Amino acid sequence: MRVQTLGQFIIEKQADFPYAKGELSRLLRDIGIAAKIVNREVNKAGLVEILGETGETNIQGEKVKKLDVFANEQFIAALKAGGECCAIASEENEDIIPIDNEVSANARYVIAIDPLDGSSNIDVNVSVGTIFSIYRRTTLNGPGTIEDFLQRGTEQVAAGYVIYGSSAMLVYTTGKGVNGFTLDPSIGEFCLSHPEMKMPETGVIYSINEGNYLHFPEGVKKYIKYCQEEDLATNRPYSSRYIGSGVADIHRNLIVGGVYIYPTTTKSPKGKLRLLYECNPLAFIVEQAGGKATDGKTRIMDKEIKELHQRTSLFIGCSDMVEKAMEFMHLYAEKAV
Ligand code: AHG
Ligand code: MN
Ligand code: MN
Repeated sequence: MRVQTLGQFIIEKQADFPYAKGELSRLLRDIGIAAKIVNREVNKAGLVEILGETGETNIQGEKVKKLDVFANEQFIAALKAGGECCAIASEENEDIIPIDNEVSANARYVIAIDPLDGSSNIDVNVSVGTIFSIYRRTTLNGPGTIEDFLQRGTEQVAAGYVIYGSSAMLVYTTGKGVNGFTLDPSIGEFCLSHPEMKMPETGVIYSINEGNYLHFPEGVKKYIKYCQEEDLATNRPYSSRYIGSGVADIHRNLIVGGVYIYPTTTKSPKGKLRLLYECNPLAFIVEQAGGKATDGKTRIMDKEIKELHQRTSLFIGCSDMVEKAMEFMHLYAEKAV
């Protein structure tokens, strides 16, 4: 069987890219390289002093783990050196990072990134991930500005995630389907292992932090009860699976079928997850694989973005399951008025 590396695949597929073919290829290649370095550190996190918290809190008010900092630094360094990116927005940085170096003088892309997703799982040997989203800049020249990031998810030219799990995988889309690559540690390359990934239309897994049940909107509570009901025809009750690393939960659901929900709660009335560098890229991938992503009402990628770290609720997964959950949201929103 022919082994196709990520690098080879990107070059072969670049004819499909709408514009700036070589540049986008190089950008994806740079992300792949940074991912390999982060994977190496994730793999040895149990061995070295990198394990544990730095004691600092990030701008979201959450504890920052050392690996978050490391991953953030690696991706920023790779993107700065690559020369295709004129600004980076990261979960770990309050403001955008404009890139103003010689190699990036003609850079046409901006990247939004969650360098380490699932950070509460670092210390316990459970999968974590990286999420990235690529846009063409809207400003004309110079280092990128915040304007370049305030684009709807529909404007993404590429998006992907890396999962650092029992094996490392990089999954990405440029709007022509989704392809997944598994890192072969013996040759140090991501190799095409999941070509043209398609999500089942429906599944039997629901993923939600039920600890927040009391604080969920009524529609979500009723949908959870629906998932737990006995019904042979629809394979219910469904199984509950929640890792706490969104990338890992959504990756599993993409492969075997399921729905992931992070709703608004009375404690986080705008939701917890971030639109720019978590929800939009995951929505792009899931839609490209045949699934759906909404905030319970509106398609995620159609949502207007007003600030870098904007939060949203997220219903993402198999199209039938997301639609069903939205039916409940709709029904019980009406009843509330
Ligand atoms: P991050 O580690 O980047 O802050 O993201 C974690 C996200 C998501 O990946 C995960 O599903 C969810 O937050 C877990 O949140 P709860 O612990 O509130 O369930
Ligand atoms: Mn995250
Ligand atoms: Mn993160």
